[in-house]
Amino acid sequence: MAQFYYQDGQLCCEQVPLRELAEEYGTPLYVYSKTQILDNFKAIDGAFGEADHATCYALKANSNPSILRILSEAGAGADVVSGGELYLALKAEFPPQKITFAGVGKREDEIEYALKENIFSLSVESVQELQLVSLVATRLNLTARISIRVNPDIDAESHPYITTGLRQNKFGIESSKIEETFKAAQSLPSLTVAGIHVHIGSQIEKVDPFVAAAQFVSEWVGKLRANGIAITHIDFGGGIGVPYANVIRNEALPVDELPENHIPSPDQFITAVLPTLQQTGCAVWVEPGRSIVADAGVLLTRVLYTKENSNRRFVVVDGGMTELLRPSLYGAYHQIVPLTIDTFVHEKVDVVGPICESGDFLARDRTMPRAKQQDILAVLTTGAYGFVSASNYNARLRPAEILVNSERVRVIRPRQTLDQLLP
Ligand code: LLP
Repeated sequence: MAQFYYQDGQLCCEQVPLRELAEEYGTPLYVYSKTQILDNFKAIDGAFGEADHATCYALKANSNPSILRILSEAGAGADVVSGGELYLALKAEFPPQKITFAGVGKREDEIEYALKENIFSLSVESVQELQLVSLVATRLNLTARISIRVNPDIDAESHPYITTGLRQNKFGIESSKIEETFKAAQSLPSLTVAGIHVHIGSQIEKVDPFVAAAQFVSEWVGKLRANGIAITHIDFGGGIGVPYANVIRNEALPVDELPENHIPSPDQFITAVLPTLQQTGCAVWVEPGRSIVADAGVLLTRVLYTKENSNRRFVVVDGGMTELLRPSLYGAYHQIVPLTIDTFVHEKVDVVGPICESGDFLARDRTMPRAKQQDILAVLTTGAYGFVSASNYNARLRPAEILVNSERVRVIRPRQTLDQLLP
């Protein structure tokens, strides 16, 4: 979040005061820092040193084409989960040999698209999917490179909706069926097994589950090789957590009341697992999303009204669950700060949006500097899983997105207009 800071009481992104952007482009508004995105990517990619690896950015976190272009130019690969994301990745010129396609429910047309584009691999999650990939590849007279996603039954200790590596989750192949699934892949025509894939969840805040997952896949590489199945790649997924509380500190801001949670840096996460993964002699691929873009973005929203109901104070803003779904969906915590510091008075409030749902809130029971009508607030750490989950519910227009680079400002997605609501 280093690229977002207060200068003379004004919150800035790189060299630009955010108030200027809110005035010029209106609210709600997403603003991203190019420098922060690149710094985050380099911190992760650089942590691999000389190791044979690829950092495949998970497009689902933020698939704005300009952001994709920044990352493809920086040398990232891409992790996609739909034909739409594959299309965006190719448009942004990620090299096909650095694209992986994950997801538990790929359609036949998506498989065909991926095979025709000759991407590096499809991560397959069931025997039926293996059979379909084999059929499509045979029909196209191609050989499909695949990896198989395994389910290690490891608790990522994250929110239940974003924990993916437990036995009861829909993802991957459970331990007792791993060997037979790889053997099935070997026996099917037009398939080449390239790797083993594991992704245990998102917003993981401790290294232990990662270390356990690394041991799990590394052991399986050995067992599979002993059975004559050559594995050359480990795709270790994404999931590195980022801080959401107290990301910006200032004497006028309250200290967020969350338990102090020290989240290791991406570098610490990677160095904790790399030796185990490297011992297998495999190339190591990762698919980080959040850790590359989350702290590179903020959502600006304007205070429309303040009100009180039965002693509860509400700050009604012009952005809500249609712009940022995370608080409503996961009870996710995002620090919210004013663009201009003009008071030291704090208040406990609910920050709520204009949508006709009581679940439409950006923060609940939150102590913040007192907000008044027309103030503009920044919802922090919203570069990942923010705009991508925006919707037109209540016929709301999707917000604009702005990219800042030093003192330069670029609209990378204009705000939707009313006519775009028509079919
Ligand atoms: N690879 C696979 C196979 C995934 O399923 C995901 C995320 C990633 C990589 C990237 O994970 P990351 O590095 O971003 O943690 N909407 C939720 C997060 C959903 C994550 C889904 N899968 C949120 O707002 O927290």
